[in-house]
Amino acid sequence: MRVCVIGTGYVGLVTGVCLAHIGHEVMCIDINEEKVKLMQSGQSPIFEPGLSELMKSSMAAGHLQFSTDLKHGVEHGEILFIAVGTPALPTGESDTRYVEAVAKGIGTHLNGGYKVIVNKSTVPIGSGDWVRMIVLDGVAEQQKVPVAAGQGPALPHPEVVADFDVVSNPEFLREGSAIYDTFNPDRIVLGSNNPRAIAMMQELYAPIVSGRYREQPGGESVPVLVTDLSSAEMVKYAANSFLATKISFINEIANICDRVGADVTQVAAGIGLDSRIGKKFLQAGIGWGGSCFPKDVAALIHTADDYGYDAQLLKAAVDVNNRQRQLTLEKLQQVLKILKGKTVGLLGLTFKPDTDDMRDAPSLILIEQLNRLGAKVKAYDPIVSQSGVSHGLTGVIVENDAMYLADGCDALVLVTDWAQFKELDYATMAQRMHSPIMIDGRNFLDREAMIRAGFQYLGIGR
Ligand code: NAD
Ligand code: UGA
Repeated sequence: MRVCVIGTGYVGLVTGVCLAHIGHEVMCIDINEEKVKLMQSGQSPIFEPGLSELMKSSMAAGHLQFSTDLKHGVEHGEILFIAVGTPALPTGESDTRYVEAVAKGIGTHLNGGYKVIVNKSTVPIGSGDWVRMIVLDGVAEQQKVPVAAGQGPALPHPEVVADFDVVSNPEFLREGSAIYDTFNPDRIVLGSNNPRAIAMMQELYAPIVSGRYREQPGGESVPVLVTDLSSAEMVKYAANSFLATKISFINEIANICDRVGADVTQVAAGIGLDSRIGKKFLQAGIGWGGSCFPKDVAALIHTADDYGYDAQLLKAAVDVNNRQRQLTLEKLQQVLKILKGKTVGLLGLTFKPDTDDMRDAPSLILIEQLNRLGAKVKAYDPIVSQSGVSHGLTGVIVENDAMYLADGCDALVLVTDWAQFKELDYATMAQRMHSPIMIDGRNFLDREAMIRAGFQYLGIGR
């Protein structure tokens, strides 16, 4: 099928590349010229395991192209994905201005056969109908034949047709395992009341639904849930809010464990074996961050508020998370007492491992607070240190090596659970430090091994 993906960020690029890999003809459109040039040269502007390789092979097979020309993209695609960002406004409300610009642009260029316009971006409940309205606004603009000033009102353009439907197809991929998640999804959700649009979406996803692209080929087929538009939009917010609340729950339990002398990692194992609870997303630590949980929980609270409902549970999940982000600082104060004049080394900067994404990363808050309290901050991150991209970081010295990070530090804080951090030579690092203290913000390291390496070790809730 012919597909156009508008917005080539973590979701759009992965979606475009994966759909091209399974044989569709994909054109990816982005407004950022520099990014498009980079992609046209076969390079991925983001780090995501396996993405570059898949991108290159799909381009070589002639299934994948990149452009800044929306008109070209709209003409090309039978299915048009909107995958632009929807960041949070200061009120918590979702900022839908990029979706609006794209919807309007699609309308302006819509001409010809039937199209399915897909909301892949996470958009507030009710956005499906709103996108339809904006697209029609764009169509109306296109239908006015331009006239010279003073020559009467604009006239309708006779040949423009606007035959389209809007589908909500929320995305559930995680950064760091986006390709795996796309080919091995737990479910695909399609929200629309229109059978023709749903049939086209089912045809598009058929190769993935069959299980053919699962890590274990021939694996189970993927469940497809067809809902109305608003329910599909709500599924996305409910899923992210549930997962964020689950993490806040285990963090709360961790804080109680700290006080009563229990170990939250053992408690998580104990409750996780209950199939009604499940063992995933029970890793206590420094709190949830990233480009989605914080903004999506905030947006759902805001939507509830718009309808006169006080979403108390979600607000509590956010409060616990904000408090959790202070915890590593409190632990540093417990052991070092005064932070002014001390040097703290951060292991990891990105909001989670296997990504270069720094949006709402817990490290950013820690850097700011340590700076405010007069500490010198250094950091080592497997991606940020190698990329040479500053990510707008200030108040932190980014080292190229974990050993240099250790040099002269009064304490280390493990902020991101990169797999490489299990393998570091902690005994040598301890010797290079001023005082070998490790605050493990992810309960990631082996406590006994760290003590043997010479560290005073503090985890979260252990
Ligand atoms: P992103 O910020 O990484 O990428 C957005 C892209 O859209 C950028 O490349 C930007 O240049 C482009 N863009 C902006 N305006 C445009 C326009 N008018 N025309 C063409 N391109 C335009 O965003 P993201 O992280 O990929 O998220 C996209 C959406 O998907 C958001 O709504 C997000 O909530 C949702 N989502 C994200 C993830 C994730 O893991 N990042 C997962 C699920 C859902
Ligand atoms: C999350 C969801 O998992 C995806 O399903 C969703 O598509 C995506 O948001 C989105 O809407 O953007 P992502 O943010 O990439 O994906 O990463 P997660 O693995 O969910 O981690 C989110 C945050 O929670 C990270 O800061 C992570 O360190 C933290 N986390 C995760 C914990 O603190 N404990 C856990 O047990 C799991």
